[in-house]
Amino acid sequence: MTKISTVSRRVLAGLIAGSGLLLSVGAGVASAQTAQQAIQFRKGSMQVQGWHVRTMVQMLKGQRPFDAAVYLRAATALDAMAVTTAEGFIPGSDVGDTRTLPEAFKDTAAFRAAIDRFQGETAKAVAAARAGDEKAMRAQVPELIRSCDGCHERFRSK
Ligand code: HEC
Repeated sequence: MTKISTVSRRVLAGLIAGSGLLLSVGAGVASAQTAQQAIQFRKGSMQVQGWHVRTMVQMLKGQRPFDAAVYLRAATALDAMAVTTAEGFIPGSDVGDTRTLPEAFKDTAAFRAAIDRFQGETAKAVAAARAGDEKAMRAQVPELIRSCDGCHERFRSK
């Protein structure tokens, strides 16, 4: 134990001596890691959103029975994700394995507006489902998809 802690102290002393370099390297690694995590998070979130939208589309196309409870569940998940997915678009995460265009980080007001539009559409889907209004539920699906596509056209590369 004593031996290990002596070694630890020496290692620590060495680290502190070289701390200028260490801190800058450490900071670089930390932010790169965070950006990578953000990219993974937003891609995963988008995949989940795709899952829920497909469920709705299948009901519209008659590929599965229309089920108001399933619709409400999908809409509620999307409504929550409209908020959380946005967390993944942190500054500096426009590099790496990502299709997010730099524009999303430059024109943040326009990107925010695209998120707000998406949130507005998910909220309407939830409201229609809560009201049990099947006609409105059905009509809301293409509106919702338009808000996905609108953002993709502007902020996602091909
Ligand atoms: C506010 C903008 C915005 C909205 C709204 C939005 N997306 Fe995205 N989406 C993006 C961006 C940007 C990317 C590229 C992510 C990356 O590679 O960093 C993306 C990527 C994706 C991907 C590919 C994920 C991957 O694995 O690479 C899917 C699938 C997707 N979106 C589905 C959806 C669906 C479905 C909706 C609507 C329910 C939606 N998106 C709404 C901006 C948006």
